[in-house]
Amino acid sequence: MKHLISIDDMSDIDSFLLSVKDIKTVPKLHQFDLQNKILTNLFYEPSTRTSSSFHSAMTRLGGKVLSINEITYSSVSKGENLQDTVRTMGYYSDIIVLRTQNAGDAGLAAEVSSVPIINAGDGNGEHPTQTLLDLYTIYENLGRSGNFRITFIGDIENSRTVHSLAKVLEKNCRVEYLDTYNFDTLPLSDVYYLTRVQRERGSTGSYQLTENNIRKMPGDSIVMHPFPRNEEIPSWFDSDPRAKYFEQIKNGLYVRMALLRSYRDFP
Ligand code: NCD
Repeated sequence: MKHLISIDDMSDIDSFLLSVKDIKTVPKLHQFDLQNKILTNLFYEPSTRTSSSFHSAMTRLGGKVLSINEITYSSVSKGENLQDTVRTMGYYSDIIVLRTQNAGDAGLAAEVSSVPIINAGDGNGEHPTQTLLDLYTIYENLGRSGNFRITFIGDIENSRTVHSLAKVLEKNCRVEYLDTYNFDTLPLSDVYYLTRVQRERGSTGSYQLTENNIRKMPGDSIVMHPFPRNEEIPSWFDSDPRAKYFEQIKNGLYVRMALLRSYRDFP
């Protein structure tokens, strides 16, 4: 069974990105591809973009979705453990998208699951599908998915989106990390990838890009953020052509359509 727990589980990212391009060009061509399939969205942590884009992607492929995102109304609130819940939902659906509070949870779920598990974020571990949409957005903007300079800014230690993306890019990019919140200058870069301070994981502090920082970013660089943002990017920057975070959000749909479609031959 092919689970997607870590970005390392994706064997050929370049051909995957091409499949996203196809789907994005004519999404309607695929409206019946997953007609008889059911997806479970099992979310133990808050989510807007990840859960909704998976829901929308599955629906646009003709499939159906069971949503367990308000765990207070599920048996989790009666003390049911993750593995029992995952086993159960494997009887009712063909694939499980899982977000949990602890690094390693998605792997534990995969050990007992009878259906593929897609890790939609496990604590401060990984978030592989965010990486796929990040890479697709980079590919669309830079024309390549490797051989560039990227600077990660923010809560590097606790940001799972950074952990997964860096695993890929450390192989073929110049990667810099800026985890101090008192920076005057930014390294020269093609991509600036910002993350919020993960307060729910005990991180403290805050930072915001200044006008001076932004003025010094190259005109053809791009600024990315997985969202939700707090104060790190002022909203006046949204209309700057270098701001690509809304493109990331939009691409999340097509990336998840392409990913779910790749599971269509599972029984
Ligand atoms: C991220 C996450 O959940 O890790 N959000 C997302 O999925 N787009 C980033 C975050 O919460 O800071």
